[in-house]
Amino acid sequence: IRERPEQVAQYIAAYIVKRINTFAPTTERPFVLGLPTGSSPLPIYKALIAAYSRGEISFQHVVTFNMDEYVGLPRDHPESYHSFMYTNFFKHIDIDVKNVNILNGNAASLTEECLAYESKIKALGGIELFLGGVGSDGHIAFNEPGSSLASRTRIKSLAHETIIANARFFNGDVDAVPRMALTVGVQTIMDAREVVIIATGTGKALAIQQAVEGGVSHWCTLSALQLHPSSMVVVDEDATMEL
Ligand code: GLP
Repeated sequence: IRERPEQVAQYIAAYIVKRINTFAPTTERPFVLGLPTGSSPLPIYKALIAAYSRGEISFQHVVTFNMDEYVGLPRDHPESYHSFMYTNFFKHIDIDVKNVNILNGNAASLTEECLAYESKIKALGGIELFLGGVGSDGHIAFNEPGSSLASRTRIKSLAHETIIANARFFNGDVDAVPRMALTVGVQTIMDAREVVIIATGTGKALAIQQAVEGGVSHWCTLSALQLHPSSMVVVDEDATMEL
């Protein structure tokens, strides 16, 4: 627990920098980093960009896999997760674009796209560290309440609560929010060697309470991390209000 969101972001960014810098990458085994979108991770990306500009970290040997992407939204739409990641992170660091993996929500076969994503993660030896946020309903990535805790990358229809929450990114227009997304599964995240979650603000307090103090349940998919051998939830004081 840190007092304010900026301190949460600083803590996580410093942690990621340390993990990447103490990893010995090879061509066959780069550092594989899972990444989220959303407003909560934005200060983490800012802090990582700052660390890069100070020469404290390079992303040349880092391969990234994003958690999720909307279905049917053009890739260059400002609210696609593809645009989000380039605008807020990738274009400011030295990552090789060949090492960036984001699900294609416009693929001819969405099922094939999801299967290929899982295969690519596996071929690289799995995800070293998965950074994630949480939805106010306790979802991780787009694993909405009711998702199987054994789920893998797949198509998911979004919960009404998520559509309403994300309308803020579409000028408040609920109808403009895509109804479906491609998302890594709960098990895809559980397979990562380490998982780090950020949650800030009172809007996440109930989800954090259910995930940390409630039972493991597919109604709050973040709760699956209780069974992960190496997971960490970093929150600000506002997000602890229901604990
Ligand atoms: C979306 C994303 C999640 C993210 C959540 C919370 O639903 N698919 O990965 O954790 O938003 O976003 P925010 O950080 O903006 O509250």
